[in-house]
Amino acid sequence: MTETSQLSLLDPYAYVEGCPHARLAELREAGATSWQPDTTDASLSQPQIFGGWFVHRYEEVKAVLRDPAVFSSQRGTVLLVDPAPDRVELMANMLINMDPPKHSRHRKLVAAIFTPRRVEELRPRVEAIAREVIDRIAPNGTADGIRDIAAPMPMRVIAELLGVPERGEQIFDISNRMVGAVDAGPEARQELAMEAAFEIHLLGQEIAREKRGSDDGTIISAYVNGTLKGVEGEQRGATDEEAGWFLMLMSVAGNETVRTATAHAIRILAEWPDQRDLLVSDLDRHIPGAVEEILRYRAPLRSVRRTANAATEIAGQPISEGNKVVCNFTAALRDPRVFDEPDVFDITREQPRTQLAFGFGEHYCLGANLARVQLQSVLREIYSRIPDIHPSGEVVHQPTALISGLLSMPVAFTPER
Ligand code: HEM
Repeated sequence: MTETSQLSLLDPYAYVEGCPHARLAELREAGATSWQPDTTDASLSQPQIFGGWFVHRYEEVKAVLRDPAVFSSQRGTVLLVDPAPDRVELMANMLINMDPPKHSRHRKLVAAIFTPRRVEELRPRVEAIAREVIDRIAPNGTADGIRDIAAPMPMRVIAELLGVPERGEQIFDISNRMVGAVDAGPEARQELAMEAAFEIHLLGQEIAREKRGSDDGTIISAYVNGTLKGVEGEQRGATDEEAGWFLMLMSVAGNETVRTATAHAIRILAEWPDQRDLLVSDLDRHIPGAVEEILRYRAPLRSVRRTANAATEIAGQPISEGNKVVCNFTAALRDPRVFDEPDVFDITREQPRTQLAFGFGEHYCLGANLARVQLQSVLREIYSRIPDIHPSGEVVHQPTALISGLLSMPVAFTPER
């Protein structure tokens, strides 16, 4: 059996023991880019994963993300694996896999729902959901940090945002199967994921049909009832098909990421008790900084992929047309050129203006404000009520190069009276 430290960083099994921070630091200090060889993932229907360039320094990651004309999201999708060509074409219906100008038109329709003002309006509801989640476990003294704490909130928030709160449980169940966060072997997981992707796509189309013609200010409604400016010869909103892909995107982008950040928050704060005590000493003051530092210290989305549209170079490294280019947030967010003592977790750290964990440029995370409100709300509940919470058993990492996800993490704490 190959040691995980020998595996290509594109290989999902290079992450079974968590983030390979030491290896990434070595690569980052050796150069701005490294070539990661072809590998395979037997759990995929297309098991071959082609090699590509990893970009692991902060400024170089930003340079790639700021140039969508050269570094395309559409040409090979943002996934690290290589979907079959007919799938790539289909997946270009999903916002995150579009290039400008199509991307800008679609993004404009949904962006209005995510403004800081709209998100602030949602804050009381998000806080109530966070309270309910912690109410359920606080008297018990033990819980599964993923199933009981990190997972329940984000999907319920998305269901509210979609204007279908009654479908929260259904969307939660489907998206869990879709991202592989279920207790199943690799093959069963792949099958469940395919089925679930199909289901969520159909559900998105169903919601689109319900919302068409009645703009209630919710997100799918805005998407299908708005007008995509500049679409050739017609004035239309998103099609049912496009809305199906959008729901799928929200279920992955807005679900797994917040879940992962919440779980890591509990782990990291238990590993850095001085920082936890500082946080608890003044929650109002330190929660925003703690959230930003958690996202920096353990980026929920490890990487995003682009494909070179033309021959180019990154920090002097020639890149051929068609090359896979992987922006690695995990390494970039510990780049000592930008962060002093990057391996130290410090909730009072002065952060750069852009939170790179949410990406940069054209595709900068639409849900960043909402993610912050969710993480701030859940941390407030946890650290005002059960502050000594800590992992109390084996932490199981999700084998994937994309997300720093955890499958399970038993936790213990002094029960609330
Ligand atoms: C801690 C939580 C989150 C993290 C770390 C995160 C991270 C990211 C990153 C890095 C991107 C850029 C991808 C790229 O450049 O290809 C992105 C895009 C996106 N995110 Fe998030 N995200 C989070 C939460 C959310 C939430 C809560 C939502 C919605 C409810 C959301 C919706 C989206 C959407 C729709 C996009 C695509 C934007 C576009 O293509 O223009 N995200 N996210």
